[in-house]
Amino acid sequence: MDDKLLHPETLAVVSGRPAREPGAPLNEPIVPASTFHSGAPIEYGRDGNPGWSALEDAIGQLEHGRCVTFASGLAAATAILDELSPDAKVIGQRAPYYGVASLLREREGQGRIGLETHDALTVDTVAGADGGTLVWIESPTNPMLDVVDLPAVIGAARRAGATVVVDNTFATPMTQVPIDFGADLVLHSGTKLIGGHSDLLLGAVVAADEAWEHRLRQRRHNTGATPGVLEAYLALRGLRTLPVRFERAQQTARELAKRLGSHRGVARVRYPGTGTMISFETTGSGEDAERVCAAVALIIHATSLGAVETTMERRARYESERAAGTPETLIRLSVGLEHVQDLWADLDRALGLLPA
Ligand SMILES: Cc1ncc(COP(=O)(O)O)c(C=O)c1O
Repeated sequence: MDDKLLHPETLAVVSGRPAREPGAPLNEPIVPASTFHSGAPIEYGRDGNPGWSALEDAIGQLEHGRCVTFASGLAAATAILDELSPDAKVIGQRAPYYGVASLLREREGQGRIGLETHDALTVDTVAGADGGTLVWIESPTNPMLDVVDLPAVIGAARRAGATVVVDNTFATPMTQVPIDFGADLVLHSGTKLIGGHSDLLLGAVVAADEAWEHRLRQRRHNTGATPGVLEAYLALRGLRTLPVRFERAQQTARELAKRLGSHRGVARVRYPGTGTMISFETTGSGEDAERVCAAVALIIHATSLGAVETTMERRARYESERAAGTPETLIRLSVGLEHVQDLWADLDRALGLLPA
C-alpha cells in the first residue's frame, strides 16, 4: 500500500511497526542497549536504537520529512542552532516559547548569531533575509497563541534564500504540515501533544531533505542529546492516539473558549480557532489570577501542556515571561480529555472567586 495515500489518522497507527512476520511483535520492543554486535549500521547506543527509528518513522511520515529525535524539545532546538555559522542571522518572533527565546538571546550575547526579532512575523519582516538567515517561526506561539501565515511567510523567506524552521508543537500535523509550505525543518517538543500523557521528555526535528537529516544525526551523535529508549517507546505509544486525542480536546477547547468569552471574570480570550490550547486574561490583578489557578479542583494547576489531563498556569509567575510581555493575568489552559461540562463547572466556580 502506498503510504502517501494514507490519512494521518491511519499513519499514526500503522507507521513505525516491525515487519509483519509470523511471531513478530506488533510494537517495536524496547531495546535497552549501549552497544551492539559490530558490523551493522547501529553499533553504539549514541548512534541509534530500533525504538528511536520506529518513532522517527512515524513522526517523519506525519510531518512529510525525515525525523531525528532528541532528549527534549530544547535539545532539538539546540541541535539546529549548533549548525549555524557564526555570521548567521536569525529572524524570529519577539515572544516565542521562553526557552527558545533564552537560547537565541544567549547565543546573540556570545556573538554566535545575529538576532532580529519582530512582534509578528510577516512577509515584510522576512524581506531582509538572505542565504545566511534562519527564520524561526512558532505558530501558534506559547503562550500568546499568535498565529503566523505560514504559506506566505515561509514562501517569502525561501524566496529570499533563507532556511526556515517551524515549531509545530502546538499545532501538530493534525492542523498543519509546514514542510508542505516549504519549511526546511519542523521542531517538536514531543513532551507535549505527541507524548500526550505527562510522562516523558523528548524532542524531534523533521528535515525536508537528507542533508539536514544527516547534519542533525551527526550533531546528536556529537553532543549525546539522545532520547531515552523508554521515552521513545512511550512517545510512539502516545502518537498512536494523537489524532483522536487532538480532535476531542479541540472540540472541548472550542466550547470552553466560547464560554470563557462571555464570563464576567474574563477580560480577554486568545484562542486561534483550532487546537487544544486557550490563553485567557482574567479581570482583577495577577494575584487574583493566581488564586483562580489555585482554586481549580479537577483541572490541575501545573506547568507543561498537551496531555490527557487538563492543566493550567498563570505564565507571568515566571520572570522570563514577564520580561517577554506576557500579561500578568494571562492563564494558559491546556485542554485534555475530561468531559466539557465537568471542566466548565470547575472553571466557572474558580473564576467566580474573582472580585466583582
Ligand atoms: C512551543 C515549544 N517549543 C519547545 C519547547 C521545549 O520543549 P521541551 O520542554 O521538551 O524541551 C516547548 C516546551 O514547553 C514548547 O512549548
